[in-house]
Parts: sequence; structure tokens; C-alpha cells
Amino acid sequence: MKRFLIAGNWKMNKLSEDAEEFVRGLRAKMLPNEKDVCILAPFTLIAGVGKALEGSAIGFGAQNVHFEESGAYTGEVSVPMLKELGITHCIVGHSERREYFNETDDTVNRKLRALLDAGITPILCVGESLEVREAGGEQTFVAGQLIADFSGLPAADAAKVVIAYEPIWAIGTGKTATPEQAEEMCAFIRGVLSGVYDNATGDSLLILYGGSMKPGNAKELLEKPDINGGLIGGASLKVDDFAAIAMAAASL
Ligand code: 13P
Repeated sequence: MKRFLIAGNWKMNKLSEDAEEFVRGLRAKMLPNEKDVCILAPFTLIAGVGKALEGSAIGFGAQNVHFEESGAYTGEVSVPMLKELGITHCIVGHSERREYFNETDDTVNRKLRALLDAGITPILCVGESLEVREAGGEQTFVAGQLIADFSGLPAADAAKVVIAYEPIWAIGTGKTATPEQAEEMCAFIRGVLSGVYDNATGDSLLILYGGSMKPGNAKELLEKPDINGGLIGGASLKVDDFAAIAMAAASL
């Protein structure tokens, strides 16, 4: 049976009251696949979300982390700090961080290692810009990101990384990749990592699609053989929409 992960990336949204109300609402949906659902919250909300999720199988985590354990890095948050909050997942290398905050494949690689060492599941984002796609370079671009981001990771660790294919042109634009475009790239990603490691590792990877996924288009994307779920921005802010996407995965 295909495995799924439905992950909500709240980005820089919500205050604590709204976040806790969301969690109460999500729990009340009694999703049959709670263990395949997680919420990635802003740092300030993580502790409250974790508390509101006590006794639930729904995962939770952060949207970024620093790769050093501690030290003189003003304004940063380390893996042990997040581990202490009980997080299960953490986004790494989101295109917004790559674009606005100077995230590089080198820092992404270090963050992956730090999270894996702590037993936290990284959700690694890759994806091309519109310019790259229009020039026909999307596979070369994404393969380059993967090779650099996974550099030096042994197969046993690589298999634990969740990958999210998020074409930048589909993020927050209402412009979703077609199910065929999304499937083509997710299959390509699986192929690249099967080549770097082995088929068993490639086959076992969870590969998500992200970019304007919503209740109306989730099922046709999630049905594709190489798409194991979604990393959802805008539609993860409303509990009914997010739960509807989780239910679409549960129905497959
Ligand atoms: P949207 O679902 O708002 O397009 O955002 C996707 C995303 O960036 C999730 O990380």
C-alpha cells in the first residue's frame, strides 16, 4: 500500500489562539490517517501546538532550523531546542528561504544531517523557477539540488528524508502543476535517488508535491503513483480545507 504524508506549512501565519483552535478543530475531525498528517508551525507556536496535540498521532514541527547545536548565532534556533519541544518533522530548504534568506545547498545539507542525527524527519524542499522550466532545465536543476543536498548521506539516512517537490511557479500563485507534470518530476526524483543509492532506497522514499494544492485538486495529484502526499501552504490555514486534503489521501 502507498504511504502518504499530508503536511501543513503555516509559513508566517497565525497567533496562538488561532493555532490552538485549529488543532482542536483538526482533532475533532477524527481523521483515520492522523499518523500521516503533520503541521509545521512558526517557532513561537510550536510548543502550544505540541501541547494541543498531546495524545494524538498528528505530527508537528518547524519550518527551519540552524545546523549547529548551540553557540553565538543570534536569532537562530537549534535542533536540540526543537527536540526538547517534541517535534517530529522539520522543513529544510524551502524555496522562500533559499530566495529570501540565503539558504544554500551547503546549509541545507548540514541541516539535514543535524536533524537526522536527532531522529527528526526532515522535509526537504526542491523545485525550479518558472524561468528554468520555460528553458526546459527543470530536471537538471532539481537533480543538481538533490545531489548537493544529499551529499555524504548514507542510504539508511537518505531513506528517512521526506522530499517535497515544490515548483516555485506554483507556490501561492493558484497555478498548480498538472498531475502529469507533478508525477513526472516526482518519478524523476525517485529515479535520481535510486541511482545515487539503490532501488530499495528510491522506492521507500516519501515524495510530496507542493504548490497550490487544495481540496479541489488534491485527489488527482495524490492518485499519481510517485506522489506520496502534499506540502500545503495556503490551504493548510483553514481546518476544513486541510482536513479535506487529508481525507482525500485516506480515501486512496
Ligand atoms: P501554497 O500551497 O500556498 O501554494 O504553498 C505551497 C508551499 O510553499 C508549501 O510549503
